[in-house]
Amino acid sequence: MDKLASLQQHTEKALLGGGSVRIESQHKKGKLTARERVQLLLDEGSFEEIGMFVKHRCTDFGMENEQYLGDGVVTGYGTVNGRLVYVFSQDFTVFGGSLSETQAEKICKIMDLAMQNGAPVIGLNDSGGARIQEGVVSLGGYADIFYRNVQASGVIPQLSAIMGPCAGGAVYSPAITDFILMVENTSYMFVTGPNVVKTVTHETVTSEELGGAMTHAEKSGVTHFACANEIECIDYLKKLLSYMPQNCEEDAPIYPYEAGNELREKLKTIIPENANQPYDMKEVIEELADADSFVEVHKHYAENIVVGFARIAGRSIGIVANQPASMAGVLDINSSKKGARFVRFCDAFNIPLLVLVDVPGFLPGTDQEWNGIISNGAKLLFALSEATVPKLTVITRKAYGGAYDVMNSKHIGADMNYAWPTAEIAVMGAKGAAEIIFKKEIAAAEDKDAKWKEKELEYTEKFANPYGAAARGFIDEVILPETTREKLIKAFKMLENKVVKMPKKKHDNIPL
Ligand code: HXC
Repeated sequence: MDKLASLQQHTEKALLGGGSVRIESQHKKGKLTARERVQLLLDEGSFEEIGMFVKHRCTDFGMENEQYLGDGVVTGYGTVNGRLVYVFSQDFTVFGGSLSETQAEKICKIMDLAMQNGAPVIGLNDSGGARIQEGVVSLGGYADIFYRNVQASGVIPQLSAIMGPCAGGAVYSPAITDFILMVENTSYMFVTGPNVVKTVTHETVTSEELGGAMTHAEKSGVTHFACANEIECIDYLKKLLSYMPQNCEEDAPIYPYEAGNELREKLKTIIPENANQPYDMKEVIEELADADSFVEVHKHYAENIVVGFARIAGRSIGIVANQPASMAGVLDINSSKKGARFVRFCDAFNIPLLVLVDVPGFLPGTDQEWNGIISNGAKLLFALSEATVPKLTVITRKAYGGAYDVMNSKHIGADMNYAWPTAEIAVMGAKGAAEIIFKKEIAAAEDKDAKWKEKELEYTEKFANPYGAAARGFIDEVILPETTREKLIKAFKMLENKVVKMPKKKHDNIPL
């Protein structure tokens, strides 16, 4: 046969994956094919495929007679907004996208290239798990990927989109990566599926309930994003990349920004008169960040803390903020874990941090204590303490107890700590404090309630303000809320060349 025609034939065959019937079935489920996803993700014409003609080597169960070029995964490199990325996209039309020895080799090849060349890896997952016909070589292939995920962690950004099934040990590659995005109704993740669950625990549960996008967005926190459809998922991938550097030795790209009037009058009116009333910290964030630049991460999980990326004067930052509109912004196990994981990503990739504080303390209760609020709360404390990127803090209202220390206090290495005049920085709330330290006086008083109120007021006047902390230099400046954005722009600029040398160690030992 003519050699050029042979190449053409091979290519056409590979492009068809598992064939047009299976492609149609994929579309009917509301899913795109592996190649369509890659085309949507990458800049037009930028994709260079690697290993298009790879075939599996399995000869059991008649597999030698069932060959599909590419073996169920499309791999290669291209650009997103002009920046290099490596990508693998599992093809469900070929053996359900299941992972064979050769599929694993293809994925490992692009991961190795990504590490050597310092660019992100994006995995588009759609797979029935280990290729059952291959046995242990498939398991070995998974482990080869896991190992590379770990080597790459903190070196290059790794993003995982889950766009179909993801079951068994296969979930652990995405779990090791930096961000997981799931598509509602067409994707799920679990270690053991509904049938095994039924056998072992006698629970009846659907795939969606057990491991669908909203389950993992709200309940487990495994996924950072639950996307309405695949297009939205791919848009999020692109957006996320725009806040990240290519690797840990670079800085995130700077976006064009027109300096102008940085005063934000709305910030004067967000804090309610009554200190016990909630407000939405996201309104504060919107005023501080460049217009439309805030992208919330982990939106549906532990809503009492808000984390996400934004830009200030065109530069990428990570924001961690207590949310008074949810459980009064209290710190608990889940919010601490959520905050810590995000802080560590930002620190690993040179993204400066802004911490907004309005926290009444840690959540009391047996549930929290028995489930380890001590070691889990310590995660956020640890993560913020070890972060060496520029770190700014703004206390908008409450900063009580241990939570004051944890939320990027001066003592754990914050560079500039600002407080609004509405800030209250104390060991605890005035009511509780008065009850403890004036116990005897209150008990001896004729009108106990009046005495308690009097003592509460005394404590409030002494401590429910930022001036005690400012007098000691724990707060660098008490600022007018409307000037906050301006202050942050200047401070981040001032800290642009910050260098901190950490003590020599193999690695730290964060309380996991
Ligand atoms: C080989 C597989 C496969 C697999 C699916 N297929 N999973 N082939 N190995 N793991 C094939 C099917 O035979 C079928 O081939 C095609 O993919 C589509 O599958 P369907 O079942 O027709 O599709 P659907 O009804 O959408 O169901 C998808 C599914 C189901 C839920 C993923 O196929 C399924 O339950 N598969 C097995 C999942 C599983 O138990 N995997 C092993 C997990 S353990 P045809 O020729 O008909 O198109 C594991 C260990 C990893 O992964 C450990 C790492 C440490």
